[in-house]
Amino acid sequence: MEPALTKIGDRMSNLTGVRAIMKDIKETLQTGKGQHYINLSPGNPVILEPVEQLWRKYTKELLDSSDYGQVVCRYGDSQGYEPLIEAIKTDFNRRYGLNLTERNILITPGSQNLYFYAANAFGGYSSAGQLKRIVLPLSPEYTGYGGLTLAPEALFAYKPTLEIDEANHRFKYRPDFSQFKIDESTGCVMFSRPCNPTGNVLTDEEVKKIADLASEHDVPVIIDSAYAPPFPALNFTDMQPLFGGNILHCLSLSKAGLPGERIGVAIGDEALVGVLESFQTNMCIHSARYGQAIAAKAIASGELADIAEQVIRPYYQNKFTVVESSLQEYMPQDIPWLLHRGEGAIFAWMWFQDLPITDWELYQQLKQVGIIVVPGSTFFPGLQEEWAHKHQCIRISLTAEDPEIVTGMQRLAQVISKIYQPLAV
Ligand SMILES: Cc1ncc(COP(=O)(O)O)c(C=O)c1O
Repeated sequence: MEPALTKIGDRMSNLTGVRAIMKDIKETLQTGKGQHYINLSPGNPVILEPVEQLWRKYTKELLDSSDYGQVVCRYGDSQGYEPLIEAIKTDFNRRYGLNLTERNILITPGSQNLYFYAANAFGGYSSAGQLKRIVLPLSPEYTGYGGLTLAPEALFAYKPTLEIDEANHRFKYRPDFSQFKIDESTGCVMFSRPCNPTGNVLTDEEVKKIADLASEHDVPVIIDSAYAPPFPALNFTDMQPLFGGNILHCLSLSKAGLPGERIGVAIGDEALVGVLESFQTNMCIHSARYGQAIAAKAIASGELADIAEQVIRPYYQNKFTVVESSLQEYMPQDIPWLLHRGEGAIFAWMWFQDLPITDWELYQQLKQVGIIVVPGSTFFPGLQEEWAHKHQCIRISLTAEDPEIVTGMQRLAQVISKIYQPLAV
């Protein structure tokens, strides 16, 4: 059957960004029988024993408690499971000296859903027919933003400036404030901090500057804190989460070990939270309550924040060090390869300056030597202008075992040397 699709049906039934590549990767892994691939592509977090134990412990506690029936056998409030809202309110008020009330918090089925609500509540066409942009101050950005909006023309990303340390093969993206503009055509601003795919962390000053510029036009600033402290605390550099005013601080429990339970949290102004809550009621009534119930216990006890700092952060930070030292050992010094500064998240991001082939061709060549990475061009949602840089990057996941990362970087170095070789003669 070939059902006739609407414009929205057509848009939402297409895979965007990295999801399209993931299909190719899955097929490669399935059809490449007999060949062992080192898979450096996943965004799926590693199951860390102490983290799994934490969730197992609170699941048992829930099963044995008299709350169990109330949690799973009954509908609940659209805003979220009350003990989870209470736990987040208490934890964040204490930790960051805030004055949050229950009305400042919304629980969603995963944070991706939250961004979908926000992108379509604040971005797209206004009742008066004006296009309200969803502005990404930095590019590359999280590929999932590419499929959020029902009006794709609303998504607009700015090209960054690049801070390059050639001698040490390092670089960092920064927002280009000489270009960045907020006006009456801006619906909302959105960015991930720490950033997937680059590991970049916008500084507190950069975030304040963006929020102040947006505040002049009453524009919400959605800060995707999927990797931020207090959980999963996947920042390897100091950063302060920012709250208040027009900032909607958004969390995810996925990288804190619960991706299967789909828990996202929005913290912000009552009016912003209220809009998103109604959106949620219309879409799915509320988030599933079992995951919320165990999350409430792990947050209220303080264990989730502790385990994030003591187990989750060091695990990925060490992996980044393995990537760095392997690149140092195997990569030729005379080739312009650059690693983005590892400031957080679960990825390493590399740029090959003046790469003689495209990132897609590099991805294919790496597959030939048993390495799977993600081609970088899938991480520029909303960047409308052509930019050679888009086709010169790859994302490397920090979820593989250490020896696999070492071998992976060794083979990457061999492939890259061959690609650049003719130019050196
Ligand atoms: C930056 C970023 N934001 C949002 C998400 C979506 O997370 P969730 O599982 O909470 O929907 C991800 C998932 O990888 C992510 O990397």
